[in-house]
Amino acid sequence: MDVEITAGTVDDVAGLETLWLAMLDHHREVTGERWPMRGPGDSWDLCAGQYRTWLGEGSALLFLARPTAPEGGTREPVGYLLCQLLPSGPTFDLGPSHGEVHSLAVSGRARGGGIGSALLRACKRELRARGVTHWSIGVLEDNRDAVRLYERLGFSPWTRHLLARLDE
Ligand SMILES: CC(C)(COP(=O)(O)OP(=O)(O)OC[C@H]1O[C@@H](n2cnc3c(N)ncnc32)[C@H](O)[C@@H]1OP(=O)(O)O)[C@@H](O)C(=O)NCCC(=O)NCCS
Repeated sequence: MDVEITAGTVDDVAGLETLWLAMLDHHREVTGERWPMRGPGDSWDLCAGQYRTWLGEGSALLFLARPTAPEGGTREPVGYLLCQLLPSGPTFDLGPSHGEVHSLAVSGRARGGGIGSALLRACKRELRARGVTHWSIGVLEDNRDAVRLYERLGFSPWTRHLLARLDE
């Protein structure tokens, strides 16, 4: 599928619900029953609230992938990427702020066709144009396909998050 990558704004957030929920389903499939996960309504409300806050205050960038040929008369996004601009902490000197890819989702029917890579390239271009020198991305340990994609695009393992239950 041919897509056009454009920058998005807070006005585009409402149109991302289906893609966010598909990513949530994918995370559920990948992790199984291992960790408690939010239900779809709860998850999207929280997510949309965060997106609107970050985009409104200028601490995030949004990129949308829309089909160049309308599908059934619509050019709804088939993928998106949201990247936060985070202040550099006291340990690593990543410049005043670095990019953190918070969300990357491509609709199930469009996966494997280069759209995720194109979204990452567009984000990288914009970060570089802003003078940002580093970017990071968090990924579930079990999401091996995504890790392969990110390593191919130049990311290397950095920090590692561990999670444990305290109630058993
Ligand atoms: C990960 C994802 C954004 C990549 O977008 P994409 O458009 O499918 O990626 P591209 O076509 O540019 O690149 C294909 C590569 O993506 C990776 N990939 C990850 N998940 C994939 C999937 N479900 N289907 C196909 N490729 C996938 C593979 O490394 C693949 O390369 P390969 O040829 O080595 O198998 C997309 O597959 C997706 O939305 N997956 C489900 C949600 C998810 O895992 N999001 C990432 C959260 S960190």
